[in-house]
Amino acid sequence: MPFVGKQTVVLTITVHMQPSTPTPLPATEPPSIRQRLLRLKPYFVLQKWVWALAMGATLLGALTEPLIPALFQPLLDNGFAENKLPLWSVPVAVIGLFTLRGLAHYVAQYALARVTNDGMEKLRQDLFAKLVRADLSLFGRQSASALSNTVVYEVQVGASQLITALIGLTRDGFTLLALVGYLMWLNWQLTLVVFTVAPGLSWIMKVLSRRLYNLTKESQKATDNLAYVVEENVLAHRMVRLHGAQAQQIGRFNALGQKLRRLALKSTAASAAMTPLTQIMAAIALSLVLTIALVQSRDAASGATVGSFVAFITAMLMLIAPIKRLADVANPITRGLAALERGLALMHDAPEESQGEHQVQRAQGALAWQNVSVQFNPDGEPALAHIDLTVQPGETVALVGTSGAGKTTLIQLLPRFLNPTDGQVLLDGVPLAQWQLGSLRQQLAMVSQDVVMLNDSLATNVSLGSAPDHAKVQQCLEAANLWAHVQTLPQGMDTPLGHNANQLSGGQRQRLAIARALYKDAPILILDEATSALDNESERLVQDALQKLMQGRTTLIVAHRLSTIEHADRVIVMEHGRIVEQGAPAELLKRGGAYSRLHHRGEWVNEASAEAR
Ligand SMILES: Nc1ncnc2c1ncn2[C@@H]1O[C@H](COP(=O)(O)OP(=O)(O)O)[C@@H](O)[C@H]1O
Ligand SMILES: [Mg+2]
Repeated sequence: MPFVGKQTVVLTITVHMQPSTPTPLPATEPPSIRQRLLRLKPYFVLQKWVWALAMGATLLGALTEPLIPALFQPLLDNGFAENKLPLWSVPVAVIGLFTLRGLAHYVAQYALARVTNDGMEKLRQDLFAKLVRADLSLFGRQSASALSNTVVYEVQVGASQLITALIGLTRDGFTLLALVGYLMWLNWQLTLVVFTVAPGLSWIMKVLSRRLYNLTKESQKATDNLAYVVEENVLAHRMVRLHGAQAQQIGRFNALGQKLRRLALKSTAASAAMTPLTQIMAAIALSLVLTIALVQSRDAASGATVGSFVAFITAMLMLIAPIKRLADVANPITRGLAALERGLALMHDAPEESQGEHQVQRAQGALAWQNVSVQFNPDGEPALAHIDLTVQPGETVALVGTSGAGKTTLIQLLPRFLNPTDGQVLLDGVPLAQWQLGSLRQQLAMVSQDVVMLNDSLATNVSLGSAPDHAKVQQCLEAANLWAHVQTLPQGMDTPLGHNANQLSGGQRQRLAIARALYKDAPILILDEATSALDNESERLVQDALQKLMQGRTTLIVAHRLSTIEHADRVIVMEHGRIVEQGAPAELLKRGGAYSRLHHRGEWVNEASAEAR
């Protein structure tokens, strides 16, 4: 039987997890397991008394363990051999002992669940709050499935594995100490013999745990990749069918699935080897002890009784269970830590959006781009090159140019979805970086090509960010020419929209987005091909609504429709990230430059040829 004190086991784990294994955080100095646990402390030590309860109950449970073999000694020596034990004492002792153990176990289990779930909830809340405030670069680095995996799944699995393992470590450690103490008291020479197998045992655990840790990190990555393929196939489900790409996608999924399967099997091979190897060590120790005990018992002067021998063997056999669990404890601790650290990495590596202090109730709406450049790719062409542009409050400016000219990029700078590589953008004379983001974005209403709706009621989507005022929602829906359709819906404006409002047609979704912009009533309106999904009929109706919407607001329109462009105060013509021409539409047409070339080439859809999506 291997005799490993609590210290030995803890030491083993600490040693193997410290330096050589890759840490998930890109820290220069790999943190020790203690430091790593300390980072989680704010989440899991919320209620100290619950921890105290869990620990107290665990300790009590552990202390009852040696009492079981201790009961055998008087029973055998006094009860059977000398018949001196009163009969009633047997059930009282046995039932009393197990009631106490049961109670301690119950309390410890419940307190543990409290600690785990409270901590998990707090961590999850923080992670989600971080997600909605994170700098937008996060979403370029991590896929949706990887992020949802971290926030929803990893945190849960990590927390329960880690806390269960830590409590287990405490319980089994205490039990082991109590039992070893009892064994020493019974026969210290014999107990020391048992310790001789400890080095072999700790070596086995060290090697296997390191392998498990690496396999866990790899499995995490493989799970992410698998989830990513599912995510993509959900998003592109129509395209996959249209192009008959199913077999291709199945192949892709299966290859990743098989990798995950191989990793899981390797993991099992490593952790399953732990038990038999431990047991062989136990057998070696047991045979040593039995031999020595038999030799000792031949020497009558040693004072060994049958009772004490049985108590010794029983206590020794009782060591197997906690030792086996302790041998496996590194596995859930490493897995749990690795999982939770993914959450922590999200927390620490994802910076929040930077912002300034400036805030106003309602901006005037004067916009200025000063020598603004945007470069996505260090080697490629800039998406915007040295743009200088000022827009007066209340002015309507149309941006035109071929696809890829940089119109969307120019507009995305305003809500700071993008930051300029060079130069600055100002609103009311204040650089955007000095604005408080909430206040800045409050000044902007935006309708773009791809409409995104949340899976909530129609009214909530229109009033996004505030509680819906039904009368106002109705007004906006009427103005966006969607009210007639909403009235045919079973629950009217309270109808749930479903996943990204898929039951609505492209044109209806676009009009809903226009209603949302109307509801926001912001001083600056941005329309990025907002009417591209509309058919002629609704376009004419929406055009009217848009015209009303633009009044008294600074408006930037990226449009393909001549009718929209002709209403603008000024047209900006863009090519390859530069402004090549600007002026009043009629004047530009006369001038015969880039605008008139685009115009005559029929670059834009006019009313007669517009097609509904
Ligand atoms: N997130 C991005 N990463 C890299 N390149 C981008 C990104 N967004 C836009 N671009 C590039 O910037 C250029 C301008 O794009 P965009 O502003 O969307 O054009 P437009 O709206 O005028 O059609 C294009 O060449 C496009 O490929
Ligand atoms: Mg665009």
